Amino acid sequence: MKVVLLGAPGAGKGTQCKSIVARYDLLHLSSGDILRQERAEGSELGKKAQTYMDSGALVPDEIIIGMMAKAIGKAPAAGFILDGFPRTLNQAIELDKALDASGQKIDAVLNLEIDDDVVTKRITGRRSCPECGAVYHIENLKPKNEGLCDNDGAELVQRSDDTEEVLANRLITYHQQTEPLVDYYKKNGTVYNFEADRNPEDVRASIFEKLDFLVKT
Ligand code: AP5
Repeated sequence: MKVVLLGAPGAGKGTQCKSIVARYDLLHLSSGDILRQERAEGSELGKKAQTYMDSGALVPDEIIIGMMAKAIGKAPAAGFILDGFPRTLNQAIELDKALDASGQKIDAVLNLEIDDDVVTKRITGRRSCPECGAVYHIENLKPKNEGLCDNDGAELVQRSDDTEEVLANRLITYHQQTEPLVDYYKKNGTVYNFEADRNPEDVRASIFEKLDFLVKT
């Protein structure tokens, strides 16, 4: 199964991916996580991406498309879920071309729908573990011990692009460049919309219901 997960910053893409990959044995490919890893390693790619990410702009397609093609090339036969990619029409077209060349296609596009004011509260309250990547929220998903990761006790950090100012740019970028992908994928009849302003368990149950059905048919 090859799945694309669409949604604004803070819609809950990363949160839902964790449950989806566990249930369907898919590889989770998050373009944001790969970029942050490249930055942490101080690679050339990471250095090039830094300014764009810190301002809430998109990293140029010529960097992203090659990076994600490499990651997708290593995916197991069971399939993958793409989180944060594609994010522009050009990225979507290049992805389709690459999959088509190997006789593959995207089976489902899951679109998490949410209002901008809801994601602002989520993003500014998000904290994550620099060691294991676990994600928390200062109100919605508190760790057992304040400020510390439940898994490894590491001190939780706030992403540098999770400020209100940068988020405002990320949301503009999302509405201008990424939201049009919903219409692009609608043409293939593969888009499934989910109301994301619900508790994570309810969103997850709706997604599982749809994916279970798709797996059986
Ligand atoms: P990326 O890392 O992809 O960030 P994003 O799309 O902005 O998504 P987020 O990770 O912020 O949100 P999410 O939807 O995963 O939410 P989460 O589950 O964590 O991209 C970062 C940057 O990298 C981009 O700005 C760009 O510069 C660059 N980039 C990446 N991909 C690119 C591409 N393809 N092309 C060009 N540039 C690219 O949840 C958020 C918070 O809410 C958490 O605290 C969570 O606990 C909480 N939460 C989640 N679900 C719920 C719920 N149902 N109810 C209450 N709280 C919830």
